[in-house]
Amino acid sequence: MQPVQLLALLADGEPLSGARLAAQAGMTRAAIWKQVEALRARGVPVEARGAAGYQLPWPLQMLDAARIRAALPAAEARALGALEVHWELDSTSSELQRRGAAAGDFSVVLAETQSAGRGRRGREWLSPPGLNLYMSCLKRFDAGFAALSGLSLAVGVIVLRALEHLGIAGAGLKWPNDVLAAAGGKLGGILVELNGEYQGPCAAIIGIGLNLRLTPALRAQAGQPACDLAGLAGGIPPDRNRVAAALIAALVDGLRQFERDGFAAFGADYARYDLLHGQSLQLSGALGAFDGVGAGVDTRGALQVRMADGSVRRIDSADVTVRRS
Ligand code: BTN
Repeated sequence: MQPVQLLALLADGEPLSGARLAAQAGMTRAAIWKQVEALRARGVPVEARGAAGYQLPWPLQMLDAARIRAALPAAEARALGALEVHWELDSTSSELQRRGAAAGDFSVVLAETQSAGRGRRGREWLSPPGLNLYMSCLKRFDAGFAALSGLSLAVGVIVLRALEHLGIAGAGLKWPNDVLAAAGGKLGGILVELNGEYQGPCAAIIGIGLNLRLTPALRAQAGQPACDLAGLAGGIPPDRNRVAAALIAALVDGLRQFERDGFAAFGADYARYDLLHGQSLQLSGALGAFDGVGAGVDTRGALQVRMADGSVRRIDSADVTVRRS
């Protein structure tokens, strides 16, 4: 039995004895125990319940391409180039990079776990199996990199639209596109990578990681305050396949809107979700360190910061870090 099969057997949240698991898998109980340890080592909190056996603290849904597709509106389902669910990849975005020209527009790749999940600025993205969501989507654009300013902020808006569709309130955006709980804590992250020509055809690989369930160990490992959809949804996150479908549908609609109208079409929604607006900020980066007050974003997606003398400074360097003071 592989870890994926063990997780699927435990997914309903009911206890399963080592003896039953061993009989089902045709393995020794010691071999089952080894697989349980392997899941635990990846961050899945498999509990031991004495004679009752092994149990997850809550039920979870394994990702399933057919279920995701069934939860998509027909028009968005038709737009998809591919929809793949993997047990493990190094990174869903790296997988799409490797496909290169073979990947059609709106190809979507999801993985239950990533062995080398990538965050922004070379950071690692922790990707334990079964708990959260890791997906990447490829979208081609004809007009070159220059026409894509604001794309990564637009994707932030797209993720917030998907959460709204799922009935999740209490989330917002920290410039440029960190998905946070309004009360604090990172809920998700977006990594947009571009390939192609500056003024010609190019492809964006849009990677999204969303926390559905964090364990105390994962929170400690995250290295920054983190939160999950379970916390925003009163303890039980929405079905993982439904969350994936909501994100994919919002991506198809939103990326088409971006292709047609650019970031201008997202400005009003960005303002609704902007958690930095009116906040005292400390900024540091290539431009040095300075303080100001968040004053929204401009039509290209640059952060506007009101300075003490009333002037407004525009920040669009990727090296700038923004902290609430
Ligand atoms: C961030 O640092 O805020 C961005 C995190 C992006 C993580 C996602 S998970 C799916 C995709 N695959 C990766 O390796 N990274 C992105």
